Amino acid sequence: MPLDIIIGAQWGDEGKGRITDLLAERAQVVARYSGGDNAGHTVTVGRRIFKLHLLPSGIVHPGAVGVLGNGMVINPARLLDEMDRLSQLGVEVSPRRIKISAGAHLITPAHVALDRADEVSRSKTGDKIGTTGRGIGPAYTDKSARRGLRAELLLDPERLGDRVVEHVRQTNVTLEKIYGQPPLDPVAVAAEYAAHARQLASYITDTSLYLHQRLSEGALVLAEGAQGTLLDLDHGTYPYVTSSSPTSGGVFSGLGLGPKFANRIIGVTKAFQTRVGEGPFPTEAFGAEAERLRGTGENPWDEFGTTTGRPRRCGWLDLVLLRYAIRVNGLTELALTKLDVLSGLNTVRLCTAYTAEEKTYTELPLGPADLAPFRAVCEELPGWSEEVSGARQLADLPPAARNYIRRIEALSGLPVTLISVGPERNQIIRPD
Ligand code: GDP
Ligand code: IMO
Ligand code: MG
Repeated sequence: MPLDIIIGAQWGDEGKGRITDLLAERAQVVARYSGGDNAGHTVTVGRRIFKLHLLPSGIVHPGAVGVLGNGMVINPARLLDEMDRLSQLGVEVSPRRIKISAGAHLITPAHVALDRADEVSRSKTGDKIGTTGRGIGPAYTDKSARRGLRAELLLDPERLGDRVVEHVRQTNVTLEKIYGQPPLDPVAVAAEYAAHARQLASYITDTSLYLHQRLSEGALVLAEGAQGTLLDLDHGTYPYVTSSSPTSGGVFSGLGLGPKFANRIIGVTKAFQTRVGEGPFPTEAFGAEAERLRGTGENPWDEFGTTTGRPRRCGWLDLVLLRYAIRVNGLTELALTKLDVLSGLNTVRLCTAYTAEEKTYTELPLGPADLAPFRAVCEELPGWSEEVSGARQLADLPPAARNYIRRIEALSGLPVTLISVGPERNQIIRPD
């Protein structure tokens, strides 16, 4: 009864969706345990490109059931849109295939308005986070403050209506008085949520019980991470983080499972490093070098946000941060994505340590919250000119690319068990 966990080892967008899709071929259930539609997970199947924000990527496989766990925050309007789009792409969307935890929290337009107003206000004082503007922070704030709207309310239209009206009225006070923004109409929002309830009520489930039952029957369950380790509320680059727990600890509280089920804990990392939003980034590249890693936007995988379209900041793979991710998640192996993007570079770089005030650090003395004082110490390795997107085994890779992977294994102390050389399902190397 294995639970295999897929975790973003960086600042998100590592290719979790792509790796989840690959592993979901053998899975019976795929579950999201944290975050909301701030996530953007891309799955490429031939000419079809699926962009998933709330539904687990495994849903693309007809045999897998998708679970939205209690650790998530769900915008029902966005979920219904996503369900519609998937249905048009030929994916079966039904309560048999999709289960929403009764304990997940609902995002409302009031949360979205608050998120955006807060960012505008923070940008005036220079401490903007660069959020996705999806209402994530305010929804988790309401959850912690014990005034959130849980998905189980969708089963009780009368209570839902009262709670939504009360919630919008309360939020209006903050919107108007603190941020000088226009209020929302509580009755109109309540009517919208009554309509959402009619469409979503049949999906509400005790997902902890469901997952226990499936695991006990011997099913393979995948936990699909959203965001990444460095965006974790506790373990990330605070305050430039999201408001949930993308690290492996979040799996158990976000799904209602005990750690005894965990089997593989796979850290997904790009062969380089990217970040969207604000905050220090020690290996960040600038100018032509950054543009080369980012791409122009002509390829679907170029480094522009799936959710917001923002250009991602790009740099070199940071082993100090990767080792940190390995530690806080208890990773058992690495999946390396986008190796193909590095083809054609004369040299590639790996950050092995930091310096600050003439001292060298291979571990962060106080965690990653304040990376600003640190400068990256990088190793330069020879690059390779050959395309690698057609490689299917290690021996197909040029020696310099193999050397690069070996060096990542040596510096991280973990085996690289999957090497992705393109977005397509078959563009994968599974070293023995
Ligand atoms: P996620 O949020 O971690 O699921 O990652 P995103 O979907 O936001 O971003 C990863 C992007 O890279 C997507 O467009 C994927 O299709 C693409 N991708 C994943 N693996 C590879 C790879 O090995 N090579 C290339 N070229 N693209 C990849
Ligand atoms: P996936 O699952 C990359 C970033 C935002 C911002 C910070 C807080 O596709 O990897 P939020 O809206 O969550 O309050 O924003 O977190 N962020 C992501 N960056 N990939 C993501 O998801 C992200 N989800 C949030 O850019 O810096
Ligand atoms: Mg993404």
